Amino acid sequence: MDYRTIVVGTDGSVTATSALRAAVRFATRCKAKLVLVCAFDPPRISRAMAETVLEHAARSARGEGVEVEVETGGAEPAGLILGVAERRGAGLVVVGNKGIGEATRFRLGSVPDRVAHQAGCDVLVVDTSGAPGPTRADRGYRTLLIGTDGSATASEAARKGLELAMILRADAELIYVGDPIVGAITLEETAATAPERVTVRTHVAQGDPTNRIVGVATEIDADLVVVGNKGMSGARRFLLGSVPNQLAHAVPTDILIVKTVDRALSDIAPGHGAVVTAGGRRLAVYRDDEGGLHAVSPRCTHMGCTVDWNDADRTWDCPCHGSRYGTDGAVIKGPADKELAAAEISE
Ligand code: FES
Repeated sequence: MDYRTIVVGTDGSVTATSALRAAVRFATRCKAKLVLVCAFDPPRISRAMAETVLEHAARSARGEGVEVEVETGGAEPAGLILGVAERRGAGLVVVGNKGIGEATRFRLGSVPDRVAHQAGCDVLVVDTSGAPGPTRADRGYRTLLIGTDGSATASEAARKGLELAMILRADAELIYVGDPIVGAITLEETAATAPERVTVRTHVAQGDPTNRIVGVATEIDADLVVVGNKGMSGARRFLLGSVPNQLAHAVPTDILIVKTVDRALSDIAPGHGAVVTAGGRRLAVYRDDEGGLHAVSPRCTHMGCTVDWNDADRTWDCPCHGSRYGTDGAVIKGPADKELAAAEISE
């Protein structure tokens, strides 16, 4: 889970504060740094007001033990949030489905809509319609509904959803919409990749993907729906009319839109690493300063989460319980006590 930096926008409104609380929860669970962003737009919000909003928000987040930084600027809110997220290499942006500079619902052209479409990282859209009461994130996510169609990009989103279930101590429900036989096989394969101790149930449904996912989310009272920004029944990109976009507007829960990036071996620069698919297998690959490739299994030997590349320390770090491995797979820090298996690279 590459959520080392989480960006959340606020304007001090009740709904923005609900999204902020969700971001604080994620930051606590993922041990991430939180960057709070508030745009000023006089006369509605002066710079001094924005700074006061940020000061209050930062104080409350620090009270939960989270490392916090703040940024303000005169840009319009969505542009500022997107710019900060990109500049800081954020792994996650959190927005409410209402609010931030407006009292309108999540609609085309709104701040959450623009962020959900344009962010270069994952986006959590928090359902703040019940604010000021507790949101689903406040109560703790107990059930995650994860959509997949078996494509490489949807599987990547499903992997993230299953690991998130472990980190949040939630149950995972996988859904496939389409052919029942293909669906049964896809879901069995996907469920087999779940970390240990994550309870997984599966649903195969037929019909319109958005309607079916919304239907099942309602039926099982899911707290969070997880989908990739590509994939799902042929949507090639995160387009108007694609499943992730329709879901973001229709789903009665929070939704995590996972940015699925197809990384290839050739994308890894010397001195860096990435988890890639090569020769049909997922591999954790490090390219040394001389250009040599070193591959190990990305599956953590503790309980089976997928490790992430840590560029600062040149290590493979597991997001679930903090195990750390060297580029050769050797354990640097537990709880894992067994190395990552060496792997051959076949392109
Ligand atoms: S699964 Fe527990 S540290 Fe990796």
